[in-house]
Amino acid sequence: MDEIFLRTNEDILVKASKYKQQSSTISLIRIEELHTLLGLIIFSGAMGNNDLPNRELFDPTLCGSKDIATMSLERFEFLLRCLHIDDRSTRENRRQNDKFEPIRNIWEIFIQRCRDLYKPCAYINIDEQLLAFRGRCPFRMYIPNKPAKYGIKIVLACDVNSKYMFDSCPYLGKNAETAPAELLGTHYCKLITKTIYGSNRNVTADNWFTSVPLAEQLLEDPINLIFTGTIKANKKEIPSEFKHNPSRRVGTSMFGFHTKLTLVSFKPESQKNSSSVVYFAQ
Ligand SMILES: *[C@@H]1O[C@H](CO)[C@@H](O)[C@H](O)[C@H]1NC(C)=O
Ligand SMILES: *[C@@H]1O[C@H](CO)[C@@H](O)[C@H](O)[C@H]1NC(C)=O
Repeated sequence: MDEIFLRTNEDILVKASKYKQQSSTISLIRIEELHTLLGLIIFSGAMGNNDLPNRELFDPTLCGSKDIATMSLERFEFLLRCLHIDDRSTRENRRQNDKFEPIRNIWEIFIQRCRDLYKPCAYINIDEQLLAFRGRCPFRMYIPNKPAKYGIKIVLACDVNSKYMFDSCPYLGKNAETAPAELLGTHYCKLITKTIYGSNRNVTADNWFTSVPLAEQLLEDPINLIFTGTIKANKKEIPSEFKHNPSRRVGTSMFGFHTKLTLVSFKPESQKNSSSVVYFAQ
């Protein structure tokens, strides 16, 4: 909060100096008001109102009087324009080596809190999410089959019961990583499960992450995590009998065992190609 407070006030000073008349609408923010501003944003999200235009949020006949009782619409919009989380004067230099630099500091503080303050249950899910964003950003992704289509992709680890996200990292694109493309899933999975290494927890993920080397590495000491995931049929470790096989009876499962690993392929009732539903389980 102190960092956001500092950076936002820096921006307020710059923007306010362009106004002819000073007024409370464009005055410096106090720390209490920053809490209030973030509270209003979170509250509108919790009420499912985050897609409404600001003037409707501040219309008591539509959204009640909480917003308007807190600050004026003009103040709210001015503060949103000034809300900043990093030092703009040094940003260009800092981001030479790291595209995520403008967000990194606040992000790391936030995620470290999530790691420190939460003890996940025995079952963990790893997945990716596209956070809707259409602004300028060198690592914005376009994923046509996601509802938002444009956004910032993050990889996250969540507690299966509470849905709490206890670790996450941004996906900055293939070029930003040192690992070859096929190892990206492994790289991210290992990165965001670090806090639960050694705990024998069960980790589930989809086929973007799953590979035999990943499952084996997680099982090893000192990581000791049990991995379950769907796996792409084109992985070289899958025997051909497990792939498309028209003669197999519908509704049957086929199991394969290798060291500590188990592979199961289920032939679904639908006409769906059975090669697309090969499951891999430890
Ligand atoms: C993970 O799942 C296995 C199989 O269901 C179970 O035996 C094990 O206890 C689970 N791990 C933890 C930490 O509960
Ligand atoms: C199912 O997958 C196999 C191998 O990947 C392919 O040869 C076949 O054409 C597919 N069948 C359908 C109906 O998509």
